[in-house]
Order: sequence, then structure tokens, then C-alpha cells
Amino acid sequence: MRSIVILISGRGSNMEAIVRAAAAEQWPARICAVISNRADASGLAFAQAHGIATEVVANRDYASRDQFDAALRERIDAYRPDLVVLAGFMRILTTPFVDHYRGRMLNIHPSLLPSFPGMATHRQALAVGVKLHGATVHFVTPDLDHGPIVAQACVPVLEDDSEEALAARVLEQEHLIYPRAVRWFVQGRLALQGASVRLAAADTVVTDTPSVIAI
Ligand code: GAR
Repeated sequence: MRSIVILISGRGSNMEAIVRAAAAEQWPARICAVISNRADASGLAFAQAHGIATEVVANRDYASRDQFDAALRERIDAYRPDLVVLAGFMRILTTPFVDHYRGRMLNIHPSLLPSFPGMATHRQALAVGVKLHGATVHFVTPDLDHGPIVAQACVPVLEDDSEEALAARVLEQEHLIYPRAVRWFVQGRLALQGASVRLAAADTVVTDTPSVIAI
């Protein structure tokens, strides 16, 4: 049985998708805790309602990024997780923190990396006029929104798309690929090997919406 700790900062819909998939698909894994850097993260209520331990490690209580990351690491490690899942965790992480979880920390980013790292990805995509946009699950490295890619899903950018409509279309795909990637990890099928992703018997899925999930 693998242990998972999920970090959130807000709504937590990706966390919710992972919790639901873990139960529905009976993963060999337990979600031990959901930790937020914000006390007002609405996703905490969902976790509590599902019997998952929740904690708040508020970044504003720490004088420096190093101190916050050290405190967060201590709380995460109390659960001895095999995997740390960043699910809308909106913090830049220090190199020692990231190195500590090398090969066992995943992130989802709402763009087809390496395009559009950082914030406001849907606005960036609309501004330059890409025709395809999407989401990426990757192992976390010290570079922000960068790291060996595990899975991507793409969606079309439509004529007259709004940022909100595009975000919703991407989020729907996030909820498919993130649980899938976490499941691969807890099944022992997914690992980081040097700087590359190793995935045993990958499934490439073409969904009925105009999107593709692949590694
Ligand atoms: C998601 O779209 C996720 O990809 C994004 O924040 C949102 C969180 O939503 N993450 C990043 O931008 C990380 N750079 P959620 O709280 O409902 O899962």
C-alpha cells in the first residue's frame, strides 16, 4: 500500500478527482493527508468530509521561503509518503525541498509545457493564438513548471474562446490525466530514471472529446 500526501492552495478539484479515482478504482494506495498553505482553501472541506487528515502550513507564518519549506517538509514527512502530489499548490519551492522529493513529487500545470509556464496560462495561450492548448503532468524539478513529462492532454482553442471557457475545457482534461498518472505511480509502473520518465506499458488514450492523452 503506497502513501500519498496531496498539497493544495485553493479549490482542490484535482485533489478531489484523485481521491475519487483512488476509491473508485481501488488503488493500492492511501491518501494520508491533504496539506494547504492557505487556511481558506476550499478543498480542505472535501478532504475532511472524506475522512482524510488535513493540515494548514501557512506560508505567511514564516519569515522566509526556506523556513516555510522546512516546516512543510516536516509535516509532509510525518506521513512518510511514497508520493507527494502538487494539486494547484501555488508556491515556488526551494531547491532543497524539491531535491528531497526527487522522483516522488508530481505536479500538474495548465498548459502544454514547455509552453506557458507560470501564471495565467490560458490568457497567455489566447494572447499568442495557439490552436492547441492543454495540461501537463510532470515530475517536479527545481525549475518552476519544468520537469520530465509524464502525461499531456490537449484541447482545441476555439474561435472567440474566453479565458474561462478555455480553462474549463483544460480542467476537464486535468481531471483525467492527473488521477491516471498518480495511479501509474502507485501501481509501480511510473518512475523517474535519471532525467527521463520510465512508464511500463503506457496507455495512450484518445478520448471522445477532441483531445489526446499520451506520454
Ligand atoms: C489547476 O488548473 C492546476 O493545473 C493549476 O491550478 C489549478 C488548481 O485547480 N496549477 C498551476 O497553475 C500550477 N502551476 P484545483 O485547485 O481545482 O485543482
